[in-house]
Amino acid sequence: MAKRVGILYESDEWSDWKLHRELEAALGRPVAMINMEADNCLDAAAECEVLVSCVFASAVFRGHEHAAASMNALVHGALPESVELINPRRAHGFEVSKAAAAQALEAAGLTVPPVLGLGRPEELRGAEERWRYPCVIKPDCGGRTTHTAVLHDASQAVAFLEEAPDLRFIVEEFIPARAGFMTRMELVDGALALVVKRSIAPNGLSSYHEGSTYELYPDCPEPVREAVRAAAAALDIQFGSFDVIEGADGRTYLIDANSVSNVSEDCTELFGGLDLMGCYAEALARRIDGKA
Ligand SMILES: Nc1ncnc2c1ncn2[C@@H]1O[C@H](COP(=O)(O)OP(=O)(O)O)[C@@H](O)[C@H]1O
Ligand SMILES: [Mg+2]
Repeated sequence: MAKRVGILYESDEWSDWKLHRELEAALGRPVAMINMEADNCLDAAAECEVLVSCVFASAVFRGHEHAAASMNALVHGALPESVELINPRRAHGFEVSKAAAAQALEAAGLTVPPVLGLGRPEELRGAEERWRYPCVIKPDCGGRTTHTAVLHDASQAVAFLEEAPDLRFIVEEFIPARAGFMTRMELVDGALALVVKRSIAPNGLSSYHEGSTYELYPDCPEPVREAVRAAAAALDIQFGSFDVIEGADGRTYLIDANSVSNVSEDCTELFGGLDLMGCYAEALARRIDGKA
């Protein structure tokens, strides 16, 4: 019997439905779309044999707290172990905590930015004087550069914390990029499917949502690629993406680990014609059914 496959999602992202279409085509059978906002989502999930997670850490900022909570329950025992999750359950813990990802990467011998602080705004207040500047402050469970800033001095930190929502934040040393860009890598079943340079906006951040531009990066040095392969293996992220900064000191800093890859429709163009969700679907079908 062919395995029953489902996609877990929290909102009508273009990429969720694109993946659904491509995966049904690659498998040659229906794939369930399981809305993690729905009350019966865990029952629906348990009816599948393989699940692909498209629930983002940023769900919490986009009004999908219920989906985030359901996903958390699902990876922590609410889903029978016999149901395979892609990525493995452990990876989701790194999607929703940058601090947990940084700790696991460091334990694996990889380079991450030094962490200066971790806590809710009221816990961080008063510690700003001890941070080294510039630094970056961002939600521990975050995404899409929401509530993220480069801080240049303690007075900016005070102002940021004054306005910040009551979330757990991580404060890291700001890592200057040797060549002025951030390196973004997409992994498809553990292999590097795409390496791009993403420009850094005037506010010091690099992000699709900050208007950063993309450029293919075929000559990305092998040690940088290898650091990302090692990071993916350390975090059990087989399908996902990493943001890395090639530091002025020659080290490869792992900035962000995403166990759900977020692409919008125009990304195919930005990615030099690579259809990332199509690649995902083919690799998933190979994995699930052993066919292309
Ligand atoms: N320690 C850091 N040093 C320099 N830039 C950083 C650092 N942390 C984050 N950034 C910048 O902020 C952006 C958003 O941070 P990131 O950790 O990727 O969070 P998100 O989940 O929002 O993508 C990064 O792409 C990068 O440009
Ligand atoms: Mg990022």
